[in-house]
Amino acid sequence: MPAIRKLDELLINQIAAGEVVDRPAAALKELLENSLDARARVVEVEMQSGGIKQLKVIDDGEGIEKDELPLALEQHATSKITTLDDLERVLSLGFRGEALASIAAVSQLTLTTRTAAGQHGWRIQSSGGTVAAVEPAAARVGTAVEVRDLYYNTPARRKFLRTDGTEFGHCEEVFKRIALSRPEVSMTLQHNGRTQWRLPSQTFQQRTRGLLGEEFEAVSLWLDEQSAGVRLRGLIAAPTFNRSARDYQYFFVNGRFVRDRLIAHAVREAFHDVLHQQRHPAFVLFLDLDPGRVDVNVHPTKIEVRFRDPRAVHQFLFHALSKALAAARAGTSSIATAAHATVGEPTSHAPQGANSATSRWSLAPGQGFASHQETMGLGSRQPTATYDVLFGRKATLEIPATPAGVPPLGFALGQLGGIYVLAQNRHGLVIVDMHAAHERIMYEKLKTALELDRIPTQRLLIPTTLNASRLELALVEENEDLLRQLGFELAVLGPAALVVRSVPAPLQDADPAELARNVLGEIGEYGTTRVLRERREELLAGMACHAAVRANRILTLPEMNALLREMEATDRSGQCNHGRPTWTQISMTELDRLFQRGQ
Ligand SMILES: Nc1ncnc2c1ncn2[C@@H]1O[C@H](COP(=O)(O)OP(=O)(O)OP(=O)(O)O)[C@@H](O)[C@H]1O
Ligand SMILES: [Mg+2]
Repeated sequence: MPAIRKLDELLINQIAAGEVVDRPAAALKELLENSLDARARVVEVEMQSGGIKQLKVIDDGEGIEKDELPLALEQHATSKITTLDDLERVLSLGFRGEALASIAAVSQLTLTTRTAAGQHGWRIQSSGGTVAAVEPAAARVGTAVEVRDLYYNTPARRKFLRTDGTEFGHCEEVFKRIALSRPEVSMTLQHNGRTQWRLPSQTFQQRTRGLLGEEFEAVSLWLDEQSAGVRLRGLIAAPTFNRSARDYQYFFVNGRFVRDRLIAHAVREAFHDVLHQQRHPAFVLFLDLDPGRVDVNVHPTKIEVRFRDPRAVHQFLFHALSKALAAARAGTSSIATAAHATVGEPTSHAPQGANSATSRWSLAPGQGFASHQETMGLGSRQPTATYDVLFGRKATLEIPATPAGVPPLGFALGQLGGIYVLAQNRHGLVIVDMHAAHERIMYEKLKTALELDRIPTQRLLIPTTLNASRLELALVEENEDLLRQLGFELAVLGPAALVVRSVPAPLQDADPAELARNVLGEIGEYGTTRVLRERREELLAGMACHAAVRANRILTLPEMNALLREMEATDRSGQCNHGRPTWTQISMTELDRLFQRGQ
C-alpha cells in the first residue's frame, strides 16, 4: 500500500465540493444564503445554461472588507461563528466557512464586493481554487459572486450533470424555497437572459400567492400557534387542496428549509382524518424555536435538522395543526368556506379504455358517503369495465369451485352502500370492503412483478399529457430507467408539459396523470435509490391505491365475483395496505343468534 500522505488543500476542497455543491442548484443555495446572511434587501440571480456555464448572485448586503476578501474563499473561514457555543446557537444560514471554498475549487469564481464605508469595490478571482491577488474594482455596495464553468476541472462530477433545463428546474426550486422564507427581500431570477421570476419586497401572503398560485393562497388558513418557546406560523391549505405529490410542502425551521421525517410524520398524523392516505397536504410553515434546541449541523447541505427534544416538537406540531384543522371544520375560519374542488392540479383525464358513460353513482352526489369522498378531493370516476379488463376474463363463466362446490369467499349477492360487496359462502355472510380489497390485490401484483425485475407496461391508446413543473420535468429526464422499471413511460413534451405514454399494466385503468404525479413526487422527495430501497412498499401502495376501485362504483355481479376470486388468489388479501381488514365473515350461527332463531 502507498504511504499515508496529507491531501493538498485543493483536493480537500474538491472532495468537500462533492458533498456541499453536488450540482448548480446547491451552489445557488449557498450563494443565496450568503446574501441573506449579509442582510441583503435586493438579490438578483442570473444564470446561463442551467447554471453550469454561469451562475451569478448579486446582492446589496453588507459586503466584505478588503482585508478579509482572500479569507472568504478559504476553507474553514467564516465571519459567522467563533466558538462551539456560537455553533450551538447559530441563527445564520451559514456557519461552516466552507461553501465559497468548495465552489471556488470546482469553478472559475469572481467575487466583487464593496462595503458601505468603502470608497470603491474590490475584486478577487479564483480559478479552480487558485486565488489571484485582490484588485480594486468599480462596484455598488454589496457583493456579486459569479461562478463560471462549474466542475470544469472535475469531469467525474460534471458527468453527473443533466440537461440545462433539468439543472435549471432544480435551481428554480431552490430559489422558490428561499424566496418563500424571506418575502421582504426583493428577488429576481434570470435564465439565459430571460426573467423567470421577479418578486418585489412583499408580504408573506403576497409572496406565497406569487410563487404558489392564487388558488393555494385562497383556500389556505393562516395559523399562528405558540407554546413553551416554540412557535408555528404559516399557511395550510384546506384539505380539498390536496396534491398527489409532496410538492407544495414547504417547512422552515428557524428560517431554513428542511425535509424532516419527524415533521412529515406529525403533519401526516394531523391530516389523517381529513385527507386520504395517498394525498398530500399543501403548506408553507415556519417553526421557530430557540436555536439551542435544534442542531443544524447534521447534514452536508443542512437540509436535515435534529431536535434536542423530538417528542415535544412532534406533539406541538401535531396539536397546533389539528387545532387549526378542527377550527376550520367547525366553520370558524376561512378554510371551511374554501372552494370544494381539488384545485392546483390539472383536472384528471378520462381513464384510457374506459367507457365513462357506464360509470354511475349509487348515491347522488351531495348525499352521504359520496359527498364526503368528494369533499376529500377523491376522484370517483372509475370505469365499470375495470374488473373485466383488469382480470382479463368474465369471472362467472369460470369460477374454480372447491371440492365442496363453493369457493372460500363464496358468490356475490350484491353491493351495499357503494362500499361493500356482500357474498354468501358455506359459513354464511361475507362482507368485503371493495376498495381495500382491490387495492391489496393490485399492490401484491405490483410487488411480485417488481421482485421479478420489472413491472409490465401497458401502452396507452391515447397518450395523456399533463402540465408539469420544471422540477417534475427534471425528474422525468433523470429517472428514465427507474420509471421504466416501475412500468411507466414518460417523456418531456415542452417547457411545462409531460406526456404519459405507458403505465404499469396492472394499473391501466387508473388515471395516468395522477399516477405519474404520484410517482414523481415520491422520487423527487426521496431520490431514486431511496425510493427503491426504503420506500418501495409505500410507493407501490400509493400506486395501487390510486388505481383501486373507488367507493360508489356500481359493480356487476360478475365483477364482484371476479374480485372475490382474485382475493382468494392473492397473498395477504385479508388486509389492505393500511393494515385494515379487507373482508369479514358473519356466520349463520351469529345471524341466527341475532334473530333468536332456535332458542
Ligand atoms: N454575499 C456575501 N456578502 C457578504 N459576505 C459574504 C457573502 N458571501 C460570503 N461572505 C463572507 O464570506 C464568508 C465565507 O462564506 P461561506 O459561504 O464560504 O461560509 P459561511 O457562510 O460562513 O458558512 P457555510 O459554509 O456554512 O455557508 C462568510 O462567512 C462571509 O463573511
Ligand atoms: Mg455560506
